[in-house]
Amino acid sequence: MFPAGFLWGAATAATHVDGGDVNSDWYHWCQMPGKIKDGSSCFTACEHWTRYEEDFKIMKKLGLKTYRLGVDWSRFQHAPGAPFDRQALDHFRGMLSSLVSKRIRPLLTLNHFSIPQWWLEKGGWTVEENLKEFYDFIEFIVPGVGDLASDYITFNEPNVYAVMGYLLGDWPPGEKGLGGYLNSLKTQRHMLMAHFKLYDYIRETHAQKNWAAPQISIAKHMRVMDPANPENPLDLDRCREADYRFNRAFPDSIQEGRLLTPFGKGEKVHDGNAWDFFGLNYYTRDMISFSLWNIGSLFIKQEFKPDAPKNDLGWEIYPEGLYRLVRDVHERYGLPIRITENGVADGDDHLRGDYIKSHLTELHRAMQDGARVDAYYHWSFCDNFEWAEGYSARFGLVQMDYDSQKRILRPSADLYARIVRSGVVPA
Ligand code: BGC
Repeated sequence: MFPAGFLWGAATAATHVDGGDVNSDWYHWCQMPGKIKDGSSCFTACEHWTRYEEDFKIMKKLGLKTYRLGVDWSRFQHAPGAPFDRQALDHFRGMLSSLVSKRIRPLLTLNHFSIPQWWLEKGGWTVEENLKEFYDFIEFIVPGVGDLASDYITFNEPNVYAVMGYLLGDWPPGEKGLGGYLNSLKTQRHMLMAHFKLYDYIRETHAQKNWAAPQISIAKHMRVMDPANPENPLDLDRCREADYRFNRAFPDSIQEGRLLTPFGKGEKVHDGNAWDFFGLNYYTRDMISFSLWNIGSLFIKQEFKPDAPKNDLGWEIYPEGLYRLVRDVHERYGLPIRITENGVADGDDHLRGDYIKSHLTELHRAMQDGARVDAYYHWSFCDNFEWAEGYSARFGLVQMDYDSQKRILRPSADLYARIVRSGVVPA
C-alpha cells in the first residue's frame, strides 16, 4: 500500500505538447532537414496550449493528484529586450487555475531544454552575461503565477541537455568536438549558478506575497551505471568517472553550494539549503567499459546490456534500478524524493502495464527500506513530440491520433488509474 496522501501524477513539458510556438530553438531546429527522425515539427504537437481543458478532464478521470507541466520562455518573449507577452501569461494562468479548480496540484518546470532562438543565437547558456535575460523571464513568470503554483522544478536534466546539445550534437545547437565539450561544462555551470539564484528568488517572492511556501528542486536524470566487466579495474574506474560526471556532479554541487569539478574548482557560491526535495527522472541503465577508441568521451564506452528487455528505443527496462537509485539518493542527500519522470517508449502498449507495476513495486520497496518518496509522475501523460525522435516514440498513457488530435486512453492508463485510486500495485 502506498501511503494515503501520496501524490500520483503524470508529466509533460511545453515543447512536447503545447504547439503553436515559432520562437523556440526547437521550432527552428525542426526546420533543418535531417534533424528530426520522422521529419516532423513541434509546431502542432498535441495542441495542449488550446486543448488543455480536455486533457485536464482526462487527468481528473484518471484520479491524478498532480501534474508536472512546463513553460517555454520563447512563448512569452519573442525578441531580445521585447516586452513580455501579457496575453500569454493570462492564458497560462487560465491553465493553472483550471488545474487548481480540479484539485490537481501543478508542478511547474521553468526550463525544460527549449530556449528562445534569439537567445541561443547569443550563445544561450554558454555565456554567463546572458543569464541576466533569463532572470528577467523568471521575474516575469514567478510573480505572474506563484499564487497558483508553489511546486517548482528550476531545470530539467542539465546533464542530458549538455550531452545531447554539446557532446553528441543531436539537439540544438548541434555542437560537438572540443568546443562542444567545453561548452557542455559551461552550460551546466551557468545552470547551477542560475539554480541557486532562482531558489532564493522564488522563496523570497512567495514570502513577500504571502503565498504558500514553495517546494523547489531540479529534475535530475539519473541512469544506473554498472561496469561491463566488474572484474576489470579499468571498467570499474571509467564507471566511477561516468557515474560522477553524469549522475553526481550537479546534485553534489547543489548540496554543497559549490561549483564542483568539472563545473568549477569547488568555489562556494551559495550558503544554506538550495532544494526542498530531490526530483529524480529514471528510465534505464548503462553498462560502462574502458575503450581506447573513445578518447573524446574520456575513454568511457556506454552501452545497453545485450539480451536485456528493451523499450521501442532500445533502452534496457531495469526496474530494480529505480530501487537502487532511490536508496542511493536518500542516503546521499537525505531529502524527500519525487519521481519526476519514469516511463517507457511503447507504441502498442504491450510493455507499459508491466513497466508501471514493476517500477512501482521497486519504488515501494525502497520506501519500506527507509526512503521518503512523496510523489510519482508518470512520463508521459500523452504521446508527444519526443525531441529528435519526433512523433515516432510514444511514451503516453494516452495515445495521440495526431491527424484528428483525438486522445485515446490506453489500457495502461486504466491500470494506472486503478493504482492511483487504491494505492495498491496489483501482482
Ligand atoms: C526528458 C523528457 C523526455 C524523456 C524521454 C527525459 O530525459 O526530460 O523530455 O521526453 O526523457 O526521452
